[in-house]
Amino acid sequence: MVKLFSTILAVATLSQAVSAATVKVMPLGASIVTYCWRANLWKKLMDSNINGQAIDFVGSQSGGDCGFTFDNNHEGHSGALAIEYVEKNFLPPWLATAKPDVIVMHLGTNDVVQNKNTTDVIKAYSTLVDQMRASKPTMKIVFAQILPIAPSLFGQATSNRVVALNKAIAAWVSTKTTARSKIYLVDQFTGFNATTDTVEGEHPNAAGNVKIADKFYPAVVSAIADVSAPETALQSFLFST
Ligand SMILES: *[C@@H]1O[C@H](CO)[C@@H](O)[C@H](O)[C@H]1NC(C)=O
Ligand SMILES: *[C@@H]1O[C@H](CO)[C@@H](O)[C@H](O)[C@H]1NC(C)=O
Repeated sequence: MVKLFSTILAVATLSQAVSAATVKVMPLGASIVTYCWRANLWKKLMDSNINGQAIDFVGSQSGGDCGFTFDNNHEGHSGALAIEYVEKNFLPPWLATAKPDVIVMHLGTNDVVQNKNTTDVIKAYSTLVDQMRASKPTMKIVFAQILPIAPSLFGQATSNRVVALNKAIAAWVSTKTTARSKIYLVDQFTGFNATTDTVEGEHPNAAGNVKIADKFYPAVVSAIADVSAPETALQSFLFST
């Protein structure tokens, strides 16, 4: 551990490595992203300190009255669809402005509610990931299988389409993830009760916000740690030659 730490310090000196630099995290999606799970996630990251790593939540949006102060920037836009983000080319300018290192994404609920073709939604996800990698080739992407929707809200068929999309997401992530730009699949469906963990069958209540943050947390910690992975590769190169 001491050896590893001193090696990292040596590499930091040699390469101005980013290990001590602020890691920018963009919460991305639709209305669900505007909820207080971001505050809970922020608090978990701050409480755990992660070796003193500075973290900045980024995005053009801000807000959220969650009972305590947190970094409330985000890129959650109420009513948005994955398909719409691609059609309107919304993401590239947001990325260019905020320059995130890590994306934490929950997007697709409105695509499901509006009965968009699952194949088309997955295609949109692929385009969005390509846009993220165009912004930063080593982008780390924490990607949610989406929350359930209560059948009482939009009917059983809509709730079933969530299950179908989540199945397609898992298959797609395994083909789209790369060593350089990992996609961390997070199952936000399992264990989340669309009746007791939501306000109205779709958006998270206090209990739901705790569950979402707890599910995202380990993947976000891994993604943040992996932001310095290129420096680890540089270290192997420097110390093996
Ligand atoms: C969805 O799109 C795919 C490919 O474009 C097509 O083959 C499939 O029939 C469509 N499914 C529905 C339910 O429209
Ligand atoms: C959600 O909670 C309600 C009330 O406790 C329960 O009846 C229902 O079975 C739960 N649904 C799931 C999917 O666990």
